[in-house]
Amino acid sequence: MTEPRPHDTTDVLVVGSGIAGCAAALAAAREGAEVLLVTKAKRPDDASTDWAQGGISTTRGDPDSLKRDILEASDGTADPDAVDVLVENADDAVEDVLLETLGIDFDETGEGEFDYTREAAHSDYRILHVDAATGTHILRPFLNYVDGHDRIEVRQDTAALELLTHEGRVHGVLTDGAETGKPIYAGATVLATGGIGALYTRSTNPDDATGDGIAMAALAGADVADLEYVQFHPTAYAGEDPFLLSEALRGEGAVLRNGDGDPFMDDYHPQGDLAPRDVVARAVEAEREETGAVVLDVGTLEGEFEADYPAIAEKCRERGVEGEEIPVAPCQHFLCGGIDVDDRGRTTLDRLYAVGECARTGVHGANRLASTSLLEGLVWGLRAGEDAVGTEPAVVEASELRDSDPDLPERFAAEKFTRLRQTMDEYLGLERDPEAIARASAVLRRLKGEVDAYIRTRTARDLYELRNASVVALLIARAASENTDSTGCHYVVDDADEPTAEPEPPADD
Ligand code: SIN
Repeated sequence: MTEPRPHDTTDVLVVGSGIAGCAAALAAAREGAEVLLVTKAKRPDDASTDWAQGGISTTRGDPDSLKRDILEASDGTADPDAVDVLVENADDAVEDVLLETLGIDFDETGEGEFDYTREAAHSDYRILHVDAATGTHILRPFLNYVDGHDRIEVRQDTAALELLTHEGRVHGVLTDGAETGKPIYAGATVLATGGIGALYTRSTNPDDATGDGIAMAALAGADVADLEYVQFHPTAYAGEDPFLLSEALRGEGAVLRNGDGDPFMDDYHPQGDLAPRDVVARAVEAEREETGAVVLDVGTLEGEFEADYPAIAEKCRERGVEGEEIPVAPCQHFLCGGIDVDDRGRTTLDRLYAVGECARTGVHGANRLASTSLLEGLVWGLRAGEDAVGTEPAVVEASELRDSDPDLPERFAAEKFTRLRQTMDEYLGLERDPEAIARASAVLRRLKGEVDAYIRTRTARDLYELRNASVVALLIARAASENTDSTGCHYVVDDADEPTAEPEPPADD
């Protein structure tokens, strides 16, 4: 038998450094496991958690009410059992990790009470926040905490390229860090790799949200679900370099106005400006088309825009936006589906877990309620980390990756990424029709073929990210083509039967 090549082993391997990955690492370490957390992030703001604005929902002692809001916002499609897991564990998880362990200073009122805020489709003020930069204020202390934990090692700038599988079990990953292609063997592997913002030109996610975990898991044979439910946030800055204008602004009195200066949301939904996110996003797009523009009027806020939302106000200044009317447009924000998991984050592959945005727990159904993503990442991260402990790592055969010249893949990847994004923007955006979805599938299949051919001869992180993005894009197109019902974020504008003949992809290269 040949000697295994140099590798690392750990009890629990966590891939990703957002709130879900940190929570999984913390929970596994608390159970006595040795944990290795690898992340391709070089800085905290490479993780979507750091970009989260509005806050983290609690139940404020009324789990039934939060459950009702989640189910309603999802158009009745969220899984009630999964929602129970979320709401029954929410307040304990927040108390234990965010308040007692990390000591996060959530905003308070003058009377020493938490200053709970509200966002769209919430029937109550129950969201904890730190102005509207809550993600940063949670993630940075969390990363420091796990990094300082004596049973957790954190390796930044270390991407997972492939899952190591043997006889249907996952035994770790091949990584690209200090050495390319180094195996890390683990008793259990937890994917916490975040979302897919990089598949669209305009997104509120960091650039490296390339769907890595979803692609790796799907390629290894794990089930994925609900991938057609790509959520678009209704209020991102409409100009170059978009950024999020938190729903908390509307929760606190800001109003959407069309190009004629008129408020319009009451014409679309009984909850007006606080209607579910998918409804508001489509209404904003419709009004932009009809009247030329939509602005978020922050002059109607109950508080002071500059004082209460300093990070957002700063972004407006940086882009030269003056006055109280901020031009907005919908923007890709979150993937409601992902790797199919159970109530402990277990995927359909043995010893593989998924948590956070890359996972599909069933909590969001076809449309996610605001400020439930950090909460879901925290609750499922803790549950998965605890469950993942107790299996010995095994060393299995790992494929060798080829060395390569990084310049060539970089150029190739940049070019193909542009085509992929154009395809997703055009055919798999806020509204879809069957013909457009079929067209997207054809373009994406061809693109994936080109990427696969290239990746066989070269190894580079960019190429793997492109491979991952093209796998997930194709899975989204497939899920969209298989679901002809308009529900939540999947809005089918033409209910005609799927075209029988697939249209030729455009001559684009
Ligand atoms: C926001 O602050 O509007 C986003 C919150 C979320 O996506 O949950």
